[in-house]
Amino acid sequence: MTVHFIGAGPGAPDLLTLRGRDLIARCPVCLYAGSLVPEAVLAHCPPGAKIVNTAPMSLDDIIGEMAVAHDAGVDVARLHSGDLSVWSAMGEQLRRLRELRIPYDVTPGVPAFAAAAATLGVELTLPGVAQSVVLTRTSGRATSMPEGETLANFARTGATLAIHLSVHVLPQVVTELTPHYGPDCPVAVVWRASWPDERVVRATLGTLETAVGAEMERTALILVGRSLAAEGFAESRLYAGDYDRRYRPVGTHPRFPDAS
Ligand SMILES: C[S@@+](CC[C@H](N)C(=O)[O-])C[C@H]1O[C@@H](n2cnc3c(N)ncnc32)[C@H](O)[C@@H]1O
Repeated sequence: MTVHFIGAGPGAPDLLTLRGRDLIARCPVCLYAGSLVPEAVLAHCPPGAKIVNTAPMSLDDIIGEMAVAHDAGVDVARLHSGDLSVWSAMGEQLRRLRELRIPYDVTPGVPAFAAAAATLGVELTLPGVAQSVVLTRTSGRATSMPEGETLANFARTGATLAIHLSVHVLPQVVTELTPHYGPDCPVAVVWRASWPDERVVRATLGTLETAVGAEMERTALILVGRSLAAEGFAESRLYAGDYDRRYRPVGTHPRFPDAS
C-alpha cells in the first residue's frame, strides 16, 4: 500500500503527467485538495473509487483517511494543484506518514508559474536580463513570511518574481516593488492559467492597479520583471555558431574530442 502524492497541474486536465493519470486510475481512494483540482482529473479515478474533497478537513482527518486505507491495504491518490514542491502542505503530511510508517511517493506536476508563463508566451530567464526566478508570496492570514523574505529584498536582485497568493494585496505589491524595478517595469497578472475562464492583464508597475480594476478572484499569479517584455536581449551562447560544446564541436580541434 502506498499514498501517491500527485501534482494535478494548474487546471487544464491535460496538463497532468501520464504517470499521475495512471496512478489515479489504479487507486481505489482519491483525496483531492478542493477547488483547484478540476473535475476532469477526478474522472481518471476507477469506477467505485472513494473520492474525498479534503478542503474542509483537518490534517488529523486527512491522515486518518490515509491510515484507514493503509489498514485496508489499498493505495491512495493524493492530489494537490500545480506541483507539490510549493505551497501544497505536503511536507506536514509526509512527516505524519513517516511517523506512522505509511509508505508514500511523489509525482510532480506542472506548477502555476510555468502555466502562467506559457500563457504569456515568455521565457522568464533571458540572457543579460534575468537569470533567476523567485517563487514567492506575501504573508496571509494563516502564514507569516520568515524575516528576510520580503518583496523588497527579492526585488533588490532584479530577478523575475512570480508572486503567488497575493493578488488581493496588489497595491501593497506595487508599492514595495516600484522603488526597485521602476514604474515602467513590465508586470502581468494571470488568473486561473490554463482554465477555460483564464484572464490576463499585462501592464507596468505604474499602470497595473488601474488595468486590473476590481478583480476579486484570488487564484492568480503576479509576474514581475524586465524579462516579461524584453526584446533587446542577447542571444544565448548555447546556440551560437562559434560556441564549442560537447554536442556541437566547432573547428578541427574541438574542446570535447570524445563527443560524437
Ligand atoms: C496554494 S498555492 C498552490 C501552488 C501550486 N502548488 C503550484 O505548484 O503552483 C495557490 C496559489 O497558486 C497560484 N495558482 C495556482 N493555480 C493557478 C492558476 N491556474 N493560475 C494562476 N495562479 C495559480 C495562485 O497564486 C494561488 O493563490
